Amino acid sequence: MTKNPPQLIIFRMFKSKGKLSYLILTLIILTSLIFVKINDLRPKSDANSTASESNSVLGESLQEKVSPISITATISAQKWVPSNTITYKGDNLLVLINKKIGLPPNYEPSDLVFVAGTLRLRKGAANAYSNMVSAAAREGIPLVISSAYRSYTDQQNTFNYWVSKSGSQQAQTFSAFPGHSQHQLGTAVDFTLAGGSSFFSESFGQTAQGSWLSNNASRFGFVLSYPKGKESITGYIYEPWHYRYIGVENAKRLASSGLCLEEFLQRYGVW
Ligand code: DAL
Ligand code: ZN
Repeated sequence: MTKNPPQLIIFRMFKSKGKLSYLILTLIILTSLIFVKINDLRPKSDANSTASESNSVLGESLQEKVSPISITATISAQKWVPSNTITYKGDNLLVLINKKIGLPPNYEPSDLVFVAGTLRLRKGAANAYSNMVSAAAREGIPLVISSAYRSYTDQQNTFNYWVSKSGSQQAQTFSAFPGHSQHQLGTAVDFTLAGGSSFFSESFGQTAQGSWLSNNASRFGFVLSYPKGKESITGYIYEPWHYRYIGVENAKRLASSGLCLEEFLQRYGVW
């Protein structure tokens, strides 16, 4: 006895059952097409997707890490911030990065250049930084940075270092979880004092450098990310050493708005 190939058997079955079979077949094909389309629309975490315009919910492991932060209570209570969201808009100078919104681990700006030895910043931020350093130097103020671009892995090491030094709860008030640091954007810098080791203290705000930056940085497009009095909004302590470049025009708008960077980006930024 000769065996029919399976395709032929299915064809004969459908032929014998008439119109109902064709209807079922059509439904199966349509369902498959919809399934393929939905999969296409899901954000992918490969390098090409970093420019994608979509947001998505983070995986469970990072959600677990983010949720125990007590200081985020104010942020998570604000309805306009989607919970545990990942943004693919890292290239945008006005992207909102905070404790609830993070960058994909593989996000790295494409236009990083060296500044101050081995440190790196995005090109626009680097130019503005050089102009600012020159302007400050003309007024006798030496500006020095101890940190600039940090990859996801750099931030992971930084955060773990601070956890080992200060304990987890304390570390979370001044160090971002990997993926949640503005340093991964390549537009944030930490200032310090010339010749010394890193100077992460509130009193940096009272030094000649801290005071000069507070009065002049926005003329070059740099703004203080974590100001005094806004701790419950930013989720971080006052960091007079940490500035982020958002461009001169945006920095002017921010200054005249009276908002802190977090509030400004929640209103005018992207994620
Ligand atoms: N110090 C800031 C919050 C950071 O780690 O990015
Ligand atoms: Zn910093």
